[in-house]
Order: sequence, then C-alpha cells, then structure tokens
Amino acid sequence: MRALVVYESSFGNTGQVATAVWEGMFQRLPDVALLEVSAAPRRLPPELELLVVGAPTQAFGMSRPKTREDALRTAGTELTGPTFGVREWLRELEPPQRPVYAATFDTRIHTPHVPGSAAVGAWRVLRRAGFEVSAEVESFWVLGIRGPLRDGELDRAQSWGVSLVSLLPGQHPVGAR
Ligand SMILES: Cc1cc2nc3c(=O)[nH]c(=O)nc-3n(C[C@H](O)[C@H](O)[C@H](O)COP(=O)(O)O)c2cc1C
Repeated sequence: MRALVVYESSFGNTGQVATAVWEGMFQRLPDVALLEVSAAPRRLPPELELLVVGAPTQAFGMSRPKTREDALRTAGTELTGPTFGVREWLRELEPPQRPVYAATFDTRIHTPHVPGSAAVGAWRVLRRAGFEVSAEVESFWVLGIRGPLRDGELDRAQSWGVSLVSLLPGQHPVGAR
C-alpha cells in the first residue's frame, strides 16, 4: 500500500468526500486504500508514502466525544458506547519511521468569519508527529449540519485526490506527461 485515506464521518458527507478523493488518487495510483478511522491501523504499513486524513469540523476543530454525541443525537441515532474519531486516532498513531507525506481535509459549513477547521487541527498534529506536511489542507463545504455537500464538491474532491498523487516521487504533476 503506497497511500492511505483515513476518514471520520458523522452524517456521511466526509465519507463521500473521502471516497471521491480516493477515486481521484486511484486514477493515478492503484495502490491506495480507503479506511474509516475505527478500522485504521495505529502502525502504518512500512511501505506507505502518502497519508490523507479527513474529518468533519465539529465545534471549531476535530470532533470530541461530546460533539460526536451531539451529532448522533441530531441524526436520531441511539448512543451505544464510546465513539472514536480522528483526534483519538492521531493521538495513538505511531510516528513514521521514514518520510511519509500527509495531507488533510475537512467538511464544514461555509460561514464567513467563523473560524476553525478539523483539517488544520489534524495537519498540526501530523506535522508535530514528523510527517512531511505540505500545504495540502483543504475544506469541502456542506450546506447544513447534516449536509448535503454543495454542488460540485465531489468533483473538486476527486480532482484534489488526483493532484495529491503528484506529491510522490516519480509521479508526474497533474496535466504533465
Ligand atoms: C456538534 C457539531 C458541531 C459543529 N461545529 C461546526 C463548526 O464549528 N464549524 C462548522 O463549519 N461546522 C460545524 N458543524 C457542521 C459539520 O461540519 C457538519 O456536520 C459536517 O461537515 C458534516 O460532515 P459528516 O456528514 O461527515 O459528519 C458541526 C456539527 C456538529 C454535529
């Protein structure tokens, strides 16, 4: 596995974006996996070169147990036990043993002057952990707490996925031959 997309999603929107990012990457790099965060390994495969992490922005950053609980309640889902998100996964993630590029994205509501981004929070944690973080932080927009995604966001996510692969050595920038 050369690349891995890990995502968290309360209502499914970040999951859709993660799938589109994965599809874009897969066009250029067949060796890419997509995992929901609770199934993601704490120790990354030694051959991994690129990690992409996506999460919904909740309460101005990465989700916490309380915000996920609020989300489940909003979705009308029964609370069945402790939940697990990208924040907790990153805390447990073992630092890379060799250079691994990382990129992050989130979904959030486009509200002028409202700060906070799960993608920026995850990016900071990955940088501190020793990942090779470039400027690859992206937000995809939802129209409300439960979604849906704005028109065109899945196409944008797929194109972003294509462009991420060019971070890897030996991969050509998008549009180059
Ligand atoms: C508890 C809670 C807090 C939220 N806080 C924010 C916020 O601070 N900023 C924002 O833009 N969106 C906020 N949202 C909206 C989420 O970003 C939105 O639900 C998410 O993008 C949907 O993605 P998902 O379907 O993958 O969960 C919040 C949602 C919930 C449930």
